Amino acid sequence: MDRGEGVNGELVLRTDGTDLEVIANGVFLMDTRVTVSERLMVSATLARVRRGARLLIGGLGVGSSVVQALESGAGRIDVVEVEPLVVRWWERYFRARWGLSGPDLERLRVIRGDVGQHLATTQESYDAIVLDTDNGPEWLVHERNAALYADPALLVAARSLAPGGLCAYWSAWPSEPFESRLRQVYAEVERVDVHRGDVAPDVLYLCGDPR
Ligand SMILES: C[S@@+](CC[C@H](N)C(=O)[O-])C[C@H]1O[C@@H](n2cnc3c(N)ncnc32)[C@H](O)[C@@H]1O
Repeated sequence: MDRGEGVNGELVLRTDGTDLEVIANGVFLMDTRVTVSERLMVSATLARVRRGARLLIGGLGVGSSVVQALESGAGRIDVVEVEPLVVRWWERYFRARWGLSGPDLERLRVIRGDVGQHLATTQESYDAIVLDTDNGPEWLVHERNAALYADPALLVAARSLAPGGLCAYWSAWPSEPFESRLRQVYAEVERVDVHRGDVAPDVLYLCGDPR
């Protein structure tokens, strides 16, 4: 449907019936077909924090996490997306794919930029932060995102949480080194394996009570 040069290389948008698929530098990134763990990351996080939570989502993607946040009653949602083309596709295609229109979007603010940068500079504090910028700490679509899974950025995210807040990370598989880094920053780290059929489960790390 569209293609272009993004901040991190080539992006291609493909359609398959009513579904949409994004390919980054020739590697599958996301689609609207299977969104179970992207949604669960948000619903599980919001279920553990106060109602009407102020939520930050890192990585807009096709927007399934945003849709879940709206459905799960987040009070205000900031979503930070580094690729202007993805934001354009959200406005042109993804929003309509999810059946969202004006009033649904009043709680949503789409911020163009790097989520690590946003966290390092924002004055906001969030009840919940969900980070799904890559395929996980050990499967980076964009090498520069390694920093988001390293200690300084883990601490920055933890410091952006309001009291009682929770920070969630998405990963395509479990990573013990990453989990142990998280345990140095947070007193509570819960690993949730999201099973879907015969394929290996996606993994969520839900982190609370910063040290
Ligand atoms: C796996 S997708 C997110 C999927 C999303 N959870 C959903 O429900 O569709 C990752 C998204 O994060 C964006 N991204 C990658 N690195 C980023 C960064 N450092 N800051 C903000 N967005 C980033 C990518 O362009 C892509 O849109």
